[in-house]
Amino acid sequence: MAIRLKERFEKKFDEEIRFFKGMMQGPKTVGAIAPTSSVTAKRMASVIDVKSGLPVLELGPGTGVITKQILARGVAPEKIVSVEYSENFYRRLVEDYAGVNFIHGDAFDLTHTLGALADQTFDCVISAVPLLSFPMEARIRLLEDLLNRIPEGRPVVQITYGPVSPVIAKPDRYHIQHFDFVVRNIPPAQLWIYRKA
Ligand SMILES: C[S@@+](CC[C@H](N)C(=O)[O-])C[C@H]1O[C@@H](n2cnc3c(N)ncnc32)[C@H](O)[C@@H]1O
Repeated sequence: MAIRLKERFEKKFDEEIRFFKGMMQGPKTVGAIAPTSSVTAKRMASVIDVKSGLPVLELGPGTGVITKQILARGVAPEKIVSVEYSENFYRRLVEDYAGVNFIHGDAFDLTHTLGALADQTFDCVISAVPLLSFPMEARIRLLEDLLNRIPEGRPVVQITYGPVSPVIAKPDRYHIQHFDFVVRNIPPAQLWIYRKA
């Protein structure tokens, strides 16, 4: 029991260090001060419809905290496509989560980044990309691109730390739903869901 606790503590500490290093290398592209909490990650993964059989698209996995909860939800590793911009994070993710399709690339250029998977329909999108670091037009373009990659009615869930939706309303094009406010996260996190109108 004590050994398992020690292992868990070491793993958590390792995640924090890795995150901190990533933040020092690219504060704007990481866009947070600590890894996402497991409570938040679980909440984000809860939107997955495992029975759909479709793969899940994850953006900005970082240290893999959310990837872990997607797997815990019952999604097979080969059914996860996860796009990470930072090479350091990417290399560790490939080591830590065998079988998951990690792609080292830019979520804002998905057709190029996804390559052979560019025409794939996903069940939903789980995104931790720091949208607030990008201009509003780029955020809207990304969101609409994502919505075109999932069936109508399925969600794009996005984590953010600001008080309002990081993508402005376009009621004729997509719906915005405030999904949750998770206090057990550093800093407390807002979760938003977007669906095609
Ligand atoms: C807030 S951190 C995510 C933290 C992650 N949930 C964790 O707990 O480790 C944002 C992540 O998005 C990645 N990222 C930033 N810009 C990106 C882009 N254009 N495409 C893909 N990933 C990006 C960063 O490298 C970082 O891993």
